Amino acid sequence: MNALIVRNLSLAYEKKPILQDLSFSLQPKQHVLLSGPSGIGKSSLLHTLTGCIPNHIKAHQQGEVLLFDQPLSNYPLSEKIQTINVVFQQPHWQFVSLTVMDELAFGLGSLNVEKQHIRERIDDMLERLNIHELKNKKLHECSLGQQQMIACASILLLRPKIICLDEALSAVDRMRKRRFMEVIFQQVETVLAVDHQPDDQVVFNHRLELSTGKLHHV
Ligand SMILES: Nc1ncnc2c1ncn2[C@@H]1O[C@H](COP(=O)(O)OP(=O)(O)OP(=O)(O)O)[C@@H](O)[C@H]1O
Ligand SMILES: [Mg+2]
Repeated sequence: MNALIVRNLSLAYEKKPILQDLSFSLQPKQHVLLSGPSGIGKSSLLHTLTGCIPNHIKAHQQGEVLLFDQPLSNYPLSEKIQTINVVFQQPHWQFVSLTVMDELAFGLGSLNVEKQHIRERIDDMLERLNIHELKNKKLHECSLGQQQMIACASILLLRPKIICLDEALSAVDRMRKRRFMEVIFQQVETVLAVDHQPDDQVVFNHRLELSTGKLHHV
C-alpha cells in the first residue's frame, strides 16, 4: 500500500500559481530528500500534505491527497497526527508550552497516554536522541538549535508513520543532526525532508526536485 498518494494537486495563493497538477506517491521505507530553489513551493507542498493548507493557511487547492488510501480530510485530528506530521524550521510555530517537559508531554497528553507512560516515553526519547540535558529547561532558555531538537523530539514522540521535515534541524550542529536523522530513519517509515544543506553521511534512498510547479524524480 502507498503511504501517500498525491493526485493532480494544484495550489495557488491569491492569483499566484505555485504547484501545477502534481501527481506522485510515497511508499513505506522511502526516505526522500525534496529539493528545489527558494520560493519554488516546497514548504507549500508540505503544508498541503499535512493539512495545514487549507485548515490554517488560505490557498486555492485542487486535487487529492490520500494517506494509506484514505483522503487526508477524512482523518480525525488524533489519527492524522500519528499518520503524517511535520516539523517546521521555526520551532515556535508549533510550541504551545513554556517548558521543555510540558512541550514534550503535550501531544501524548492529547492522545490520552497515561502520565507514567508519557514520562517513560519522554525519557527514552531524550536518551535515544542524546539530549537529556535539555529536560529541565524552559523553552525560552534554549537556543534555536535546541528548540529545533525539542520540536522534532515532540513530533517523534507521537510516532507518526510519515514525517515531513521542513529544514527542521537547520540550526543544529552536524553531529547531533546526524544522530537525529539516524533515529528518524529507524523510527519513521516514510520520511520527506527539505534540507538546503544535506549531509553526505545522511543517506536518502529517493530524491524529488520541485521546479516551477512540477515535481521530478532525480
Ligand atoms: N501564506 C502565503 N500567502 C501568499 N504567498 C505565500 C504564502 N506562503 C508562501 N507564499 C509564496 O509562495 C511561494 C512559495 O513559497 P514556499 O515557502 O512554499 O517556498 P519554498 O520552496 O519553501 O522556499 P524556501 O526554500 O525559501 O523555504 C513564495 O513565492 C512565497 O512568497
Ligand atoms: Mg520553505
